[in-house]
Amino acid sequence: MICTSVVCGKETTSNLKCPVCLKQGIESVFCDQTCFRTSWSQHKFIHPQEDDQPYNPFPSFNYRGDLRPTYPLSARRAIPKHIKLPDYAKDGKPISEIKNDRLGKIPTLSPKEIDKIRKVGKISREILDIVAGHVKPGVTTDELDAILHKECIKRNCYPSPLNYYNFPKSFCTSINEIICHGIPDQTPLKDGDIVNLDVSIYYLGFHSDLNETYYVGDKAKANPELVRLVETTREALDLAIAAVKPGLAFREIGNIIEAHATKNNVSVVKTYCGHGTNTLFHCQPNIPHYAKNKAIGIAKPGMVFTIEPMLNLGTYKDITWPDNWTSSTQDGKASAQFEHMMLVTEDGCEVLTARTATSPGGPVARI
Ligand code: MF3
Ligand code: CO
Repeated sequence: MICTSVVCGKETTSNLKCPVCLKQGIESVFCDQTCFRTSWSQHKFIHPQEDDQPYNPFPSFNYRGDLRPTYPLSARRAIPKHIKLPDYAKDGKPISEIKNDRLGKIPTLSPKEIDKIRKVGKISREILDIVAGHVKPGVTTDELDAILHKECIKRNCYPSPLNYYNFPKSFCTSINEIICHGIPDQTPLKDGDIVNLDVSIYYLGFHSDLNETYYVGDKAKANPELVRLVETTREALDLAIAAVKPGLAFREIGNIIEAHATKNNVSVVKTYCGHGTNTLFHCQPNIPHYAKNKAIGIAKPGMVFTIEPMLNLGTYKDITWPDNWTSSTQDGKASAQFEHMMLVTEDGCEVLTARTATSPGGPVARI
């Protein structure tokens, strides 16, 4: 068995079982008392309550919009032995990333490496499209996580978010006022919601990263405010991508995005940025989406990075839920995001996560 502690994850022959899980007929083992004690605050979230009803685990938190987390979380999903793991899969710490951050160099990939990351980008698009095909009123974000996880395993891919700094699920699902990093749980999508699906996979030694925001049911598409927000965000990313070519200073990207946001009366989140992705999930360059930023670096052929603007209907300011991940707008108004991963070429860039003719979602006309 594998130790249930999210910060351990090692093979163990220990007989130390979680008593609460055992009552439900689930065998969660811990290596030892230390694993049991140190992981309890996270592990307990997979336990149903006495009355077996879904519950809000942080009832005294000052939530800013209508959305609440719906627990229990489902149990940690398993990764079969044959799948290659990133370094943080066992203990949550991306050591190679942390070491690399001290160097701060922006890598350029060789033709062989480019072939690999191109494949990884393509597969992650395929997986996002399959999951997005299941977006409809009534489906829970945990059900979407189960689908994503299965599609990753089928393709011998590791879902990069799983256990990245102890993130508990295989991708991020961010509904309405959630800016990013929403944790899949028992919350059902409703007609009139918007939901962002953020997919990253690790395959052939490379990470990919992409996300899109989708309208749930027909009501969201009939909401002029939501359509303005979502379409402006989609366009802002496209405008930024159109400017990427060798010689572009990364600090320019934020000017392009904020100009389009301002024209459409939405704000730009400052806390979260685009980033390099390659053998590391997140690395240099750092790419802010707001104007007048001081980002370092110039685009060169062979560099691979994401642009992933988050735009809000109200304030740009964010606040993190007590789960230490979910980022909400401070005023509870909606937030949208789109993300692509791109490779700088000799005369522009190649979008490694591009939509295909059959990708679900896509632009709708403003009302
Ligand atoms: N996929 C996100 C990004 O666009 C990062 C998610 S980190 C996680 O960079 F741990 F929350 F998954
Ligand atoms: Co990203």
